[in-house]
Amino acid sequence: MADHDSWRIPSTVQEPPSRYLIPEQERLGGQQLVGEEMPEPVPFIDLRRLLAFDGAEEEAAKLRSALQNWGFFLVTNHGIEASLIDAVVAASREFFLQSLAQKREYSNLIEGKQWQLQGYGNDPVKSQDQILDWSDRLHLRVEPEDERDLALWPRHPESFRDILHEYTLNCKTVKDGILRAMAKLLELDDDCLINQFGEKGSTYARFNYYPACPRPDLVLGIRPHCDVCVLTLLLMDKDVGGLQVLRDGTWYSVPPVRDYALLVNVGVSMEIMTNGIFRGPVHRVVTNSEKERMSLAMFYAADLEKEIEPIAELLDENQPIRYKKIKCKDFVSAHYEYFSKRERVIESLK
Ligand code: SIN
Ligand code: FE2
Repeated sequence: MADHDSWRIPSTVQEPPSRYLIPEQERLGGQQLVGEEMPEPVPFIDLRRLLAFDGAEEEAAKLRSALQNWGFFLVTNHGIEASLIDAVVAASREFFLQSLAQKREYSNLIEGKQWQLQGYGNDPVKSQDQILDWSDRLHLRVEPEDERDLALWPRHPESFRDILHEYTLNCKTVKDGILRAMAKLLELDDDCLINQFGEKGSTYARFNYYPACPRPDLVLGIRPHCDVCVLTLLLMDKDVGGLQVLRDGTWYSVPPVRDYALLVNVGVSMEIMTNGIFRGPVHRVVTNSEKERMSLAMFYAADLEKEIEPIAELLDENQPIRYKKIKCKDFVSAHYEYFSKRERVIESLK
């Protein structure tokens, strides 16, 4: 296990330290940094209409096409108050603006050494030659509520815990609505996808902070990956872009959105459950030479003890099973193994 602390992003660097430099073949030329413009704007889905009697069909058609073409979309009219979104962004900013020593009180390294999923710090560093991402994270398991590790929940700002709790409750309603609409598209019972999570589905909140980087061509905020969970609700920085998605070999940039829309994207657990009908996008984050960027992802994963497998109703002689089943807990650890090698776990289950 490498010593993470020596690899912290220095605050006043001119050139990124070598541990952050991406492989030569991944270096980003001018257009790649900006990303291609998407051939059509990111689809907006009005959640209230999607779940209502009137207008639902029109929104469902948009949802179907967004899922088929991109594996992600923006959700509006989701019912989360703008003031709560502002509050969670402000709380996140206050957390990250603290000194390193203050943030390290919530370190994801047990006794400064052994990496755990929750807490403040990097993704796991499995070897000395692993390339690091130009970002800082605070990763917290927010559901099930009775399994929160509150020792890792920031005490500053004072309102952090209440705001995150409130935001978690609000996002759960949004996620359930989306999962019901997706189940309908598959002609499954409304609650079929929700039931796939098992008794104790896990929700992780990951606060991402990407410092400005003097050489965005040489580093990545987050390397290319698919989310390991079933579904992600992402609150993007409303001013600074950086998220890019891969489609047919081209990286497209996802522009920032200003009207409190949330980005929803499919994770690889959903790909397994739907036997490949819904697939999540490969995505990455590029850095900005002048501006820092923040985002907050809510990852919805199944009960860690539950096996993830294709839903029986989606299989028949024309749709043979395409993925092996795997226990959620093992899938998450395998994901991080592959992630550290810049590879994708899903290939191992086909
Ligand atoms: C992520 O891929 O988890 C983060 C995406 C983002 O920061 O926009
Ligand atoms: Fe992601």
